[in-house]
Formats: sequence, structure tokens, C-alpha cells
Amino acid sequence: MYNILTLNKIAKIGLDNLDSAKYTCGDAIEAPDAILVRSASMHEMTLAENTVAIARAGAGVNNIPVADFAEQGVVVFNTPGANANAVKELVICGLLLGSRRVAASYDWAKTLKGNGAEVGKMVEKGKSQFVGPEIKGKTLGVVGMGAIGALVADAANALGMSIVGFDPFLSDTAKAAFEAKGYKITADMNDIYADSDYITLHLPYNDSTKGTINAETIAKMKDGVRIINFARGELVDSDALVAAVEGGKVAAYVTDFPTDAQIGVDGITALPHLGASTPESEDNCAVMAAKEIADYIEKGVIKNSVNYPNAQLADCFTVRTCILHKEDATVAEKAEAAAKAAGATVTSTFTAAKKGMGYTVIDTDKEFDAAVEGAIRVRVIK
Ligand code: MLT
Repeated sequence: MYNILTLNKIAKIGLDNLDSAKYTCGDAIEAPDAILVRSASMHEMTLAENTVAIARAGAGVNNIPVADFAEQGVVVFNTPGANANAVKELVICGLLLGSRRVAASYDWAKTLKGNGAEVGKMVEKGKSQFVGPEIKGKTLGVVGMGAIGALVADAANALGMSIVGFDPFLSDTAKAAFEAKGYKITADMNDIYADSDYITLHLPYNDSTKGTINAETIAKMKDGVRIINFARGELVDSDALVAAVEGGKVAAYVTDFPTDAQIGVDGITALPHLGASTPESEDNCAVMAAKEIADYIEKGVIKNSVNYPNAQLADCFTVRTCILHKEDATVAEKAEAAAKAAGATVTSTFTAAKKGMGYTVIDTDKEFDAAVEGAIRVRVIK
């Protein structure tokens, strides 16, 4: 029986995917084999020795100390794409909220309550304060052309926007596919700043992306640029952004990660973190996260890990030995040698590395001691 700790509410349909004959799930499990999490912070958490995997039902993993957990032999998964449509829909809403001053006009309309038959005249008289442009014919800069950015680009393009996309991690095939749709794909963020009437952020938050939007980068943007941030608040230097909105350089900022300083500023639309808050996306993320955990626990398969390489492995095996280690090609050789020395026949070997971490899987006909030099964690599945 495996124990799965849920740190947040995880959609039932996801937990139902974990066979109740094999898994117990709960929010008070003390030494879990794996953890399912949404946005709870794990930075101060000490893991139990037997915890082998964390799955985040969502895309961003800034609530998880991914590199530290890799060093402890804990595989961290996310669910790329599972909430992409939900976020895309809110981004399109954000583009519109940042155009005509919809949120401000809504607040203003509420102040007219009590004016009886005069309301009709008052809304007509007051509406000019909330005028704003159409998005059709404007250029949208999409920073990050992953699952969400790609959907946003397609939807905005369908609404008549030209697309300029930035993503340093795009494959040549993906780049060519975007270019075939008429999108300009650039490796230079300065193109985004120079070309865009609207900029939408779809990049992960980490040390290198923190404060991507700051006084210096804002200065490179068009006057009256509109910025949409449904990715993470820390991608934007809040003080610089508020100053740019108040000074008129940035015409609108729409975010679901507002800071205290941003709330109430004219030109800033502050929403709660609603990007993935749809039943469809919560279900998709939970199902994907649960499957990732089960595949890893039962078969050693790694898909969508953010700290270890992917490993697509055969379903059938007699004894599977899974070794997590630092990137080191000799670990596989040492493990195979250990298997042979123990009289085991090796039927298949997989080894791969990513971001300095390695994963080696040896299938054999019988168990052997694979605690070779360099192994961080060895797990045997039978
Ligand atoms: C994500 O990172 O997947 C989105 O921001 C939504 C979420 O955090 O749940």
C-alpha cells in the first residue's frame, strides 16, 4: 500500500485514478510515499525518507524547492498544458479588460446606484472616461511560447492580433510551425518591447526571470503599452510598474498576482489568482498529476519532471532497479556490473540526464544490490 499526502484540495477525479487497493490518499499522512500539491509552499518542509515523488497539479513550481528535492532523490512533476485552456481564456479576458477600461467602468457604474430614472443619462454622459482601443490589428508580444503561450497566441491571432513570440527554449520544429502561421518568433526580447502594443507573460518564475519587467525594460516598450501578467507576480518589478502606470508609459496592467501597491491604482486591474480556477482545469491537472505519481511509483516511468530526465519505459519487467544520481555516465556501467556480479541477467538498461541530474533504470531477472557509487536513491520495483 502506498500513502499519498495531499497538501491542497485535489480534484476527486484525480484521486479516483489512484487504485484504492494500492493507494491511501489523505491530508494528514505522516510519512507519505508521494505528495500531491497545488499552491501550498513546500520551501520550509522536511520530507520523510520514503517520499520519492511530488506532483504539482499546475504548471508553475516556484512553491517547491525543486533543486533541493532533486539532491534528495525526490522527483518533482508538474502538469504542463493541463490548465492551459483555462489560463488562455482568462488572458483573453485580460486583453479586453486592459483595453476599454472595463473594471474601472464597472466600479464607477456601482456608484450610480440610487439615481433612479437618471441612471440611463448618467451612464451615457460618463462613458467617455472609459474609452479604450480594440485589440484587432494590434501586436501582441507573447513572452514564453509553451502550452499556454501558444494557445494565447492562436486565440489572439484569431481575434485579429499580430503575434510576436519570444521563447529561448523553442525547438526548430515548433518555431517553424509558429512562423507558418505568420507569427514573428524572436530570440531577442528587445523585439517584444519594440513591436508590442500588448505584452503577455507566460514564463516560469525563477532566479533568472525575476523582475523581467522592470524600469529598464519598460523604458524600451512602446508608449501606452498594455501588460498582462497571469504567470507570476515576481516577474514584474512592482514599484517600477506602478510608477510606469501612474506616469502613463504603461496604459494598463492586468494581473492575477497583484501586490498591495498595485491595488487601487488607476490603470491596474487586480484579480485573485484565477488562471486555473475552472473545474475542467482542476480535473485535468489532478488526473495528470495522479497518473505521473502512479507511473513513477509502480513502473519507474518519469514524464513531465522538472528536476529529473524523462524516462519512457516498457510496461513489462521482472525486477526493475531505479537509480537516481547526479549526471554521471559511469553509474549505468557500475550498476550493470553489479547486476552481473550478483548473477542477474540484464534485460534492458535506460540512462539519461537533465539539468545535472541522472536517472538509470536496469531491468533484470532477479534482484541485486545497486547501491553503486554516485547513487542518491535506489528503488527496486517487482
Ligand atoms: C499554474 O502555475 O499552473 C497556474 O498559475 C495555476 C496554478 O498555480 O494553479
